[in-house]
Amino acid sequence: MVTGASGGMGRVIVGELARAGAHVVTVARDASRTESLLLETVGKGGPGGFEVIQADLSLRKGVLGAAAEISERHERVHVLVNNAGAHFPDRRLTPDGVEMHVAVDYLAAFGLTYLLQENLARAAGRVVNVASNTLNDTRQVKLPGRSRPATLDPGHLDDLTRLNPVTGFVPFEAYARAKLLAVTSGYHFARTLRPHAVTVNSVHPGIVATNIINDLVPAALRPFSGLIRATMLTPREGASAALRLATDPALAGLTGRYYSREKETATPAISHDAAVQQRLHETSSRWFEH
Ligand SMILES: NC(=O)c1ccc[n+]([C@@H]2O[C@H](COP(=O)([O-])OP(=O)(O)OC[C@H]3O[C@@H](n4cnc5c(N)ncnc54)[C@H](OP(=O)(O)O)[C@@H]3O)[C@@H](O)[C@H]2O)c1
Repeated sequence: MVTGASGGMGRVIVGELARAGAHVVTVARDASRTESLLLETVGKGGPGGFEVIQADLSLRKGVLGAAAEISERHERVHVLVNNAGAHFPDRRLTPDGVEMHVAVDYLAAFGLTYLLQENLARAAGRVVNVASNTLNDTRQVKLPGRSRPATLDPGHLDDLTRLNPVTGFVPFEAYARAKLLAVTSGYHFARTLRPHAVTVNSVHPGIVATNIINDLVPAALRPFSGLIRATMLTPREGASAALRLATDPALAGLTGRYYSREKETATPAISHDAAVQQRLHETSSRWFEH
């Protein structure tokens, strides 16, 4: 199962999994557009084939609906790649009252992992969260000097609507904080799902020339965006890091790790704080239960 299949890397991930013989389930906001894109990529006759479930993963009901539909159709989920993600140029709220980065870049991944954990356990499945190294350095232009990791106020963890508040809101930092939340909850899932042989790892794919980049290139550098994109990885190169974690037999059993492409990398200390992980897990699981 792969989210964000209409996007640059998601489309490659689906194509490669289907070509290897997997039956791939995807979730997309525009199901018919995604189906056409995937038909071009995979073709009708791919050995595994694919199916597209329509859902807006920024919405609580979208995540709940997608998980229910997958669960109904598939007893086992062998691989879950939480790849959907977005960056927004300003502070936006979902109809549920959650800031958009929190909803798309964190809660969608949390919700699908949480709601599909039994399906994953039946298959000793692998979960891969596509995160971003912005969580280790929120500076948009990386000049020499000290990095500025994403921050998290533990006081905001009891109420998801308090995460990424108006005060001090900076879009790139809000995106990085949401990715930090995804990695933090990934560490928690890795521990709790270990007895079921489910593995959970997160990965930064590199800087990849996809749609998300259009908004991430600082305004002053936009006239040169063609040149800048040429220096980036292609979607195929970027997708390889998540595909490796999802499928490489040599990585069987590996869990609770964060990779920057193929290199295991540290994440901010707060992501390893068991009390923070627990509070985040409780608040987020309540979100999908009420
Ligand atoms: N490109 C990079 O340099 C880079 C670096 C670090 C991390 N990442 C991460 O890599 C992942 C893949 O991104 P990409 O680079 O391939 O960008 P992309 O081409 O913009 O793809 C993003 C995908 O997420 C989907 N998505 C966004 N909002 C959604 C929602 N509310 N509900 C359902 N799906 C939604 C998009 O679907 P729609 O077609 O419906 O919009 C699209 O399929 C993201 O998690 C991103 O944060 C990318």
